[in-house]
Amino acid sequence: MGEFHAGTTFISDFLQVVMYVAGGLFVFCGKIDLADFTAFVLYIGVFLNPVRRIISFVEQYQNGMTGFKRFCEIMDASPEADTPGTVDIKNVRGDIEFDRVSFSYDDGKQVLHDISFSVGAGKTLALVGPSGGGKTTICHLIPRFYEVSSGAVRIDGRDIREFTRASLRRNIGIVAQDVFLFNSTIYDNIAYGRPDATREEVERAAKLANIDEFIKSLPDGYDTIVGERGVKLSGGQKQRVSIARVFLKNPPILILDEATSALDTATETAIQKSLEQLARGRTTIVVAHRLTTVRRADEILVITDEGIVERGTHDELIERGGLYASLWSVGNKEAE
Ligand SMILES: Nc1ncnc2c1ncn2[C@@H]1O[C@H](COP(=O)(O)OP(=O)(O)OP(=O)(O)O)[C@@H](O)[C@H]1O
Ligand SMILES: [Mg+2]
Repeated sequence: MGEFHAGTTFISDFLQVVMYVAGGLFVFCGKIDLADFTAFVLYIGVFLNPVRRIISFVEQYQNGMTGFKRFCEIMDASPEADTPGTVDIKNVRGDIEFDRVSFSYDDGKQVLHDISFSVGAGKTLALVGPSGGGKTTICHLIPRFYEVSSGAVRIDGRDIREFTRASLRRNIGIVAQDVFLFNSTIYDNIAYGRPDATREEVERAAKLANIDEFIKSLPDGYDTIVGERGVKLSGGQKQRVSIARVFLKNPPILILDEATSALDTATETAIQKSLEQLARGRTTIVVAHRLTTVRRADEILVITDEGIVERGTHDELIERGGLYASLWSVGNKEAE
């Protein structure tokens, strides 16, 4: 735009300068008289006006077309379509099984290699391990945010690819590591967990997630707009809104990926208690760096770049004296 405007202004102004100089010379030499010269000065103004208008039209046209192209790109994006023959998943018991699952992101780097484990209905499985091991990736494979490269993920013994995505996701509650909030009211953001919920249900969920008091302290209460991606809330507040969503949704399968990592210890303990209540009778997958929160899990998997390096209950793993035991003792020393 800079080049375009500088260019066109330069040419039209240059034309005027040429006109004045040449006209001045002609008048000086007596080839034309002053009246003719004055007429030309007026003509040039009349001539340049429509040229300027065309230029600004070109600019508007370019702006409009780029906007229109972006609009078309969004409208043309095809939503995830279910393949024919998929059915709604019903009456979920909650057995989850990873059968020799391998997975790589689009960039080709293999993140999961030949991972197998299973969680019985109503049990709690914890995933721990160093950052970047693939814990979040495992969590994202269950609601089919990504498709496995090979192997299969099964729920109640059936491959999740046999189910429609919408029905699958209705049955899975996920508190993700990076919380996503819509630029709408807090109420809408919690109700997103179950859009047909009543006002009382939403408020009860907020109470369980320990955020009701905070919301009521805001001038607009539940109708406070949270801003793009929830920028007006703190990390812990966002996390609690997302936990409230899960309380409201009440799903048979629960995935908690660092669900309480951004909270202070007192709030964490309080929410941990309600989460434990929520987890009762549901299949739960917990990811946590603070090992005290996963201690009571039925099975703990230690995941590193090499895959599952250890598995067992807390006591078994401590006895084994491997990676988990060393992570545990580091955590404990810090606590002391
Ligand atoms: N969307 C993505 N595209 C490409 N690579 C990704 C993507 N998400 C994660 N990865 C890569 O996959 C690997 C595993 O990531 P993941 O998020 O599963 O780790 P994590 O175990 O959850 O770590 P943390 O404990 O830090 O949350 C990382 O090396 C990361 O670089
Ligand atoms: Mg993660």
